[in-house]
Amino acid sequence: MAALTDPITLPSGLVLPHRILKAPMTENLADADLQPTEAHERLYRRWARGAAGGLLITGNLMIDRRQLERSRNIVADARLDVARLRRVREAAADSPVIAQLNHPGRQTNRFLSGRPVAPSAEAGAVRMMGLFAAPRALRAEEVERLVRAFGESAARCEQAGLDGVQVHAAHGYLLAQFLSPHVNRRTDAWGGDVAGRARALVEAVRAVRAATRPGFTVAVKLNSSDFRHGGFTEDDAEQVVGLLVEEGVDLIEISGGTYENPALFGEVDDLRGSGSGTSVKEAYFAAFARRVRDRAAGVPLALTGGIRTREAMERLLADGVDLIGLGRPLAIDPDATARLVAGDPGRTLRRYTLPTVAGLAGESEWYETQIGRMGAGLEPDPGLRPVVAAARFIGGEAVRGLGERRRRARAIAALDAR
Ligand SMILES: Cc1cc2nc3c(=O)[nH]c(=O)nc-3n(C[C@H](O)[C@H](O)[C@H](O)COP(=O)(O)O)c2cc1C
Repeated sequence: MAALTDPITLPSGLVLPHRILKAPMTENLADADLQPTEAHERLYRRWARGAAGGLLITGNLMIDRRQLERSRNIVADARLDVARLRRVREAAADSPVIAQLNHPGRQTNRFLSGRPVAPSAEAGAVRMMGLFAAPRALRAEEVERLVRAFGESAARCEQAGLDGVQVHAAHGYLLAQFLSPHVNRRTDAWGGDVAGRARALVEAVRAVRAATRPGFTVAVKLNSSDFRHGGFTEDDAEQVVGLLVEEGVDLIEISGGTYENPALFGEVDDLRGSGSGTSVKEAYFAAFARRVRDRAAGVPLALTGGIRTREAMERLLADGVDLIGLGRPLAIDPDATARLVAGDPGRTLRRYTLPTVAGLAGESEWYETQIGRMGAGLEPDPGLRPVVAAARFIGGEAVRGLGERRRRARAIAALDAR
């Protein structure tokens, strides 16, 4: 049985000194041209200081500037300033850095896109306070181009000296939409049974492998389930784990949920009654990790979501989980990893949600504001009021998103004309 302080070598050869990783958290700190900034450098220097050499997975970088998850995502397209991304890598010093690559699909808000894309149009807009517009279905040749873009973005990350990439196929973004029979109603080769719905993910992984050298780590973040009727289930997810093993990925990080069913934050009532053994208390997706441990064979499994105490971490390692992902704890307490590795018992976090339907917005924006503070060279502020964080966030996204629509439309027209 592994201890929290045991090193692990991923199949790629990447050596991690202990079993805690920083889970991806969107930084929203790029400049107006969607390039890495000094704020990213400060942030990753700070995270590395408290990581005891552990793995840092970046927040999601977009593969296409036409569709963003946040107004200030880094975009790893042909315009990426590789030298700037290299400076972010260097700021992390002895902590390995893996960039998460993503396309939001229909989960891009109206400030950022009036016309999202998705595998199919039938499921309509993401239902969340009218913040999302109805998507159009991608054409087959567009899917092929997007899959290739994952590979091209990965090659740029490798050029920047990063240790690997993580393909984001969780939380309801584009590749997760392909996996979901609720959102993906396609009847061509990109839909249908699990293998058809997983094809976009599998082809993206292949594109990344083909575009990078051996030894470059290729990870995937996968949902255990979408936690909705007619959506991606644990049975589907288990099959996808099998497909990823065949592709020889180096790490699978397990999470769950979507914007509409934010199980990733422990926010889904069904979790208790789902019969999956998923617990809202700690380690939301532990039962699924146990279930797929054998299926994942030699591929290391990371589990993220609600894990807080050393005791729970040790129990998970005993159950066969290889790495523990921490998100929110590191947004408010960037030294938590180093302390846990040194023997600290860890601590639970209070919730920072707003007492309204905007619960998700309230919590994630509270943490995002703390990340922004570290980008500015400040320490996190536990006294920050959730309502202030949420208002500032929504205001900022609206002003930047809407204010830059014309400029973005020109960039998009130039891309479309190619
Ligand atoms: C501010 C914030 C931003 C996030 N951005 C991402 C992201 O870019 N990609 C991703 O896969 N997950 C993202 N997540 C989810 C985390 O990786 C993680 O799955 C979730 O926070 C649950 O883990 P925790 O309970 O340790 O926080 C984000 C979470 C927070 C709080």
